[in-house]
Amino acid sequence: MDDKQGYRTIMADDSKNKGMRKGLTSYGDADFSLFLRKAFIKAMGYSDDALDRPIIGIANTFSGYNACHRTVPELIEAIKRGVMLAGGLPIEFPTISIHESFAYPTSMFTRNLMSMDTEEMVKGQPMDAVVLIGGCDKTVPAQLMAAASANVPAVQVVTGPMMTGSHRGERLGACTDCRRYWGMFRAGEIDEAETEEVSGRLAPTAGTCMVMGTASTMACMTEAMGMMLPGGAAIPAVASDRLRHAEASGARAVAIAAEGLTPDKIMTPEAFANAFRILLAIGGSTNGLVHMTAVAGRCGIKVDLEALDRMGQETPVLVDLKPSGQHYMEDLEKAGGMTTVMRELRHLLNLDCLTVSGRTLGENLDAGATPWPQEVVRPMNNPIFPSGGIAVLRGNLAPGGAIIKQSAASAELMSHTGRAVVFESLEDLANRIDDPDLDVAADDVLVLKNSGPKGAPGMPESGYIPIPRKLAEKGVKDMLRMSDARMSGTAFGAIVLHITPESADGGPLGLVENGDRIMLDVPGRRLELLVDDVELARRRGNYTPPPAHEGAERGYLKLYLDTVNQADEGVDFDFLAKCPDGRVTP
Ligand code: FES
Repeated sequence: MDDKQGYRTIMADDSKNKGMRKGLTSYGDADFSLFLRKAFIKAMGYSDDALDRPIIGIANTFSGYNACHRTVPELIEAIKRGVMLAGGLPIEFPTISIHESFAYPTSMFTRNLMSMDTEEMVKGQPMDAVVLIGGCDKTVPAQLMAAASANVPAVQVVTGPMMTGSHRGERLGACTDCRRYWGMFRAGEIDEAETEEVSGRLAPTAGTCMVMGTASTMACMTEAMGMMLPGGAAIPAVASDRLRHAEASGARAVAIAAEGLTPDKIMTPEAFANAFRILLAIGGSTNGLVHMTAVAGRCGIKVDLEALDRMGQETPVLVDLKPSGQHYMEDLEKAGGMTTVMRELRHLLNLDCLTVSGRTLGENLDAGATPWPQEVVRPMNNPIFPSGGIAVLRGNLAPGGAIIKQSAASAELMSHTGRAVVFESLEDLANRIDDPDLDVAADDVLVLKNSGPKGAPGMPESGYIPIPRKLAEKGVKDMLRMSDARMSGTAFGAIVLHITPESADGGPLGLVENGDRIMLDVPGRRLELLVDDVELARRRGNYTPPPAHEGAERGYLKLYLDTVNQADEGVDFDFLAKCPDGRVTP
C-alpha cells in the first residue's frame, strides 16, 4: 500500500478491520492512530509489504519456570515459517505461562488470569488470526477460554508429550510413576537415595506429562473438538513431526484469517460433545471436564452432567494409557494418535462438525492414514473398561454433583459404606495424615474439606489424599477418599472429587464429622451422608465458616474469591462466562 494515499482512504475501505488497521488505539483520529502504529511497528524493521500482509499472532508461552514449554522457541520458528510460506506476517507476543509445579497456591488459581491475559492480548493487538501454543495442564484450557471469548480465528498447538524414561530397567514417566514411587517411599519400599535417582528420570525430555494426565487429555479433547489440526495431540514434543505440525498450523492460520473461520463456528454443542466423548474413551483426566465446562461457558453453552453420565455409560475406555492402562503417549502416537481413537468411535461422534482444518471431523478421519495393527487403542468389542471412565454422582453430600474416575480406581470400592475420618483443611491433612495415633482403618472413608475453588483457594489437586503411612506400611494401596478438590489426571485411586457446592461455599461436605457413615454407590450414582436431616440442620445452625484467607481483601485474590464459580460451571469467573444462550451439551 502507498502510505501517503492510504491514510485518508483506508478507514473507508473493506480492509479497515484487517491487519495493522485492526483495533486502532482511540485518539479520536483513526488515521493518526494508524500513522502512529506504523511508525512504531517499523522500529521492529518491518517493511510496508510485510505490514500489508495478514497478521498472525503467535502466543509465546515460553517461561524459564515451565519445562513443559521448553520447546516453545522452536515451535515459534516453525509456526513463523508456515505463516510466511502462506503469505502472512507472523508476530509473536508473550502471555502468562503456568507450570503445575511452579504456581502458588495452585495452577488453577491462575488459569483464569491467563485466560484474561490471552483474551485481551488477542483482542487488543492487531492480528487476523492467532496460533496459541499451550501444553502444560492449565495453559490449553486458558487459551481455549480466551479463544472462545475473543472469537478471533485461532489454531491451538500444543508442545506435545515427553518421551518416557527408564529406571533400573523399568520404563517410567511423569507423573503416574511419580506418585507410585512416592507411595513406595512412604511405604518404606525404597530409600531416599533411590527417590532422588528416580526424580532425575521421571521427566527425561522437554514436553508435557506423557501419561493420560490433564495435558494429554486436553490435547486429545482439543483435537476432537476441532480447534487443532488433525494429528496434533500425540506427537512427542521432541519429534520432528511436531515441528512440521507447527509449520502446518502457521500456514493454516493464514487461511482461516481469510476464511473468517472464528472459534464460534467450531466450538458448537456438538463439538463439545465430541470432546467429552473422547474424554470418556481415553480414560482422560477429570480435570478435562472442569476445563471444557469453562470453555463451553465462554461460548454460552451449558454442560449437562446427567447427559454426560449417560454418554459415559455407552462409551467404553479404549485407550490403554496410564493411569487407567499400561502405555504412554509416544505409544499412542505410534498407534496412529487420535485418528485411530476417533475412527473406532466414529459411530458415536458428530462427524459433521467443522474443524479448524476447514474440513469436517468426518472428512478429517477419511483423510487419515490407513489403519495398521496396534495394541494401544482397543476395538469397541474389547475395551479396557466397559463404560466411561468418569461417573457423575449425586446425593445429599453432593447436591450439585461430584465425580469419580472409576477406570482408575479399585473396583471393590465402587460400592462401599464406611466411617468418615475428617480433615478440616489441607494443613490439618498434612499435620495428621501420618500421625501413628490417627484413628483410621483401611475400610474408612478419608474426607478432606475446604479444598474447593474458594476453600483452598484455587481447587488444588489435593483430592489424591495419601494413604495414612501406618496403613501404607501394612500394604494398603487404595481407600475411599473424597473432597471438593481436583485430582491430577495422572493419579490412581477410589477418589470422589469436585463435590459441589464446596464446603467453604456452604456445601454439606462442611457438615461431615468424624465417625459419620458415608455411602458411595457408583453403579447407582449415589453419594450419601448417612446422617438424618434433623442432625444436619442442627449442625448447619452451629456451622462456623473457615477463617478468611490471608490477603483476601485486595488484588487478584479478592477478584478470584468474589467471582469464582463452582466446579459444575468450570471454576471460571462469573463475569467472564457468556450469558447462557439455551444451548446445552453433550
Ligand atoms: Fe506440565 Fe505435567 S507438569 S504437563
